[in-house]
Amino acid sequence: MARAFDLMQQTLFECDFDHGGSASDFLDPAFAGNKIIPLHRWVPWIAGFSRDFVRGVLQRYLSGKGTVLDPFAGVGTTLVEALLLGHDAVGFEINPYAALSCKTKLESHKIRIDLFADEIARFQKFYFDATLNGYRPKSKPPPGFRTRSDFYGPEVLRKVLIVIDFIESLQDGPLRELFRIAFGSTMVTYSNYSYEPSLSRRVAVGKAEITDYPVGETVAMKLREMVEDIKWIRREVPANHGKASVINASFMDSHHLLSSRSADLILTSPPYLNNYHYNRNTRPHLYWLGLVQSPAEMKDLENRNFGKYWQTVRELSSVRLDFDLQDSELQQTLDLLRTKGTDRGIYGGNGWANYAATYFNDCHQFLRCAHRVLKKGGTALIVIGNSILQGTMIPTDRHLAKIGELVGLELVGIQIPRATRVGNSIIQSDVRVGKAKKSDSLYESVVELRKP
Ligand SMILES: C[S@@+](CC[C@H](N)C(=O)[O-])C[C@H]1O[C@@H](n2cnc3c(N)ncnc32)[C@H](O)[C@@H]1O
Repeated sequence: MARAFDLMQQTLFECDFDHGGSASDFLDPAFAGNKIIPLHRWVPWIAGFSRDFVRGVLQRYLSGKGTVLDPFAGVGTTLVEALLLGHDAVGFEINPYAALSCKTKLESHKIRIDLFADEIARFQKFYFDATLNGYRPKSKPPPGFRTRSDFYGPEVLRKVLIVIDFIESLQDGPLRELFRIAFGSTMVTYSNYSYEPSLSRRVAVGKAEITDYPVGETVAMKLREMVEDIKWIRREVPANHGKASVINASFMDSHHLLSSRSADLILTSPPYLNNYHYNRNTRPHLYWLGLVQSPAEMKDLENRNFGKYWQTVRELSSVRLDFDLQDSELQQTLDLLRTKGTDRGIYGGNGWANYAATYFNDCHQFLRCAHRVLKKGGTALIVIGNSILQGTMIPTDRHLAKIGELVGLELVGIQIPRATRVGNSIIQSDVRVGKAKKSDSLYESVVELRKP
């Protein structure tokens, strides 16, 4: 079952999975092990890849220097590993906070440690003086950010605004980004919210509100961890390293931004068909780091998110597949879903069928874009979890493979590195989705496609 990270060090969230034994060529792709690995530990992310899984794939699939693409880069596990192994890497990531995390990590080996350390010392002095001497912060909470309870208690808020005042005063762009990540990755820890794993009010889950907290000390601790990691990456990154970058845009818009036949290897994991709301769960980061200003911008992000969300499409009359797999198992499953819970209005099967159809339409668009950017003979490895909607198991891996074939890719195989995965609340809630059959388990697959 999913759980929140503990205080101080980890403030985002992850899904926690059972590890089922399985015979597969791939290591377990889940993020958990990254929590202690330099750089990867900066920003925990839902369903992030494990470093070892990515490294294993890159070593196996690329013999010389290649170009690696991650269309759903998250916080950059694939991109960082590609950089460390000397490849060129490019990622797409629609969430500006995740994209900022990728960018900061990918550029971290260029940071001058002495300058960074000086700024951390200056920050500690500024914060110490300001908290003791009745300093009145100039920064204000982001006006567009609304929450049911105060996000920060008054004492904590004052300290947070002091931190932001200091960050705003930094002239050096890359150093400022490091400070923003240090604040972003700790900011929920001292708020009245926590990850359960969705962002929830602390009082709603029986936790006390936070009236005071050593905010500056927590940010400084994170910054010192980052200094150590930057020393590490400066030693590890090869002298002849490749170009590595992230584009803060939807991969569906990649035709403007990426040449066709430019990638040797795609290694990625799109959002799963589990309605996990990446945008809502990063609202604090997006607003407080000034990456989003208004609910309208949040809505736009939501609409462009891969697979959309059930909430976005549940009221539509009937979303159809916009590609031709008419007599397929997928079509039959969608038809079956629409017949379920018809008395439950938007909570019934039609809404979930709309969500699934939207999701697979996006899979189709994604694979068409992937086909365009892959070089001849190039491989796409796509990690994806199955899903259970209204008690119906949806083998997303098999459907994805069929759609891949439809767009002209060859299916090399589907492997299951982890046999059981305990789903999040949306999967298990019988109010919303009906009980899953005992025999259906959740799993994660690696779908391997090749461009002939
Ligand atoms: C499963 S996570 C990827 C995690 C990643 N493998 C890592 O190790 O951090 C999926 C990511 O896709 C991003 N995303 C969703 N829709 C997207 C789109 N249309 N284009 C690019 N990224 C998108 C989400 O914001 C999320 O970070």
